[in-house]
Amino acid sequence: MLFDTHVHLNAEQFNEDLQEVIDRAKSEGVSNMVVVGFDEITIKKAIELAETHEFLYASVGWHPVDAIDMTQEHLDWLKELASHPKVVALGEMGLDYYWDKSPKEIQKEVFRKQISLAKEVNLPIIIHNRDATADIVEILKEENAGEVGGIMHCFSGSVETALECIEMNFYISLGGPVTFKNAKKPKEVAEAIPLDRLLVETDCPYLTPHPYRGKRNEPAYVKLVAEQVAELKGLTLEEVADATAQNAKKLFGIK
Ligand code: NI
Repeated sequence: MLFDTHVHLNAEQFNEDLQEVIDRAKSEGVSNMVVVGFDEITIKKAIELAETHEFLYASVGWHPVDAIDMTQEHLDWLKELASHPKVVALGEMGLDYYWDKSPKEIQKEVFRKQISLAKEVNLPIIIHNRDATADIVEILKEENAGEVGGIMHCFSGSVETALECIEMNFYISLGGPVTFKNAKKPKEVAEAIPLDRLLVETDCPYLTPHPYRGKRNEPAYVKLVAEQVAELKGLTLEEVADATAQNAKKLFGIK
């Protein structure tokens, strides 16, 4: 059984054929998924999907690219949603220095506010990091985010950073890039990180694994990620699938 810890089935790319996408995931052995919402529209859709599908859960947060748009009302809304029975985490949240819609200082402030909310409601957090590793690690430390822990989503950093995050009570989640031929760092991380701190995800519809790169990603392809991790670790697909699914259930508090 596979657990895809990061899907955007709430994205418009799935409007046309959501049921077929879900059916294909199930037939590839995907038993659970977390639908991640990151703004008003995608959060509402994530909750709706989690309420109508037993095997889907939701994570709610505010994306750093849109940090400049987050109001106190939004933060209060996230707090309210945190007690929803299908909401298992807060995020994605973090820092994104690739896009410049929101100034760094505002991103940091919005990130800190969401970490402190997570500690208040006692939910793990899902971290989005783009070109901002040093600041992310610093804020996680300063805010004592290890109290709730969480996921370094679609991790692309070094083994050294991965170990530092594990030290802070975070899981390392690998996605499509680990299957790319030229992706040296994710492959090194897959080899080096202990299986009990690893998760797998698709981040669909984005970051499609080899050999479907360039096409829309979907949760069925999480199997390709797990297969690649298994090959790198010298394990079977079943061993990686079971271990990462157990890790996810433990982190999200799913029985
Ligand atoms: Ni995402």
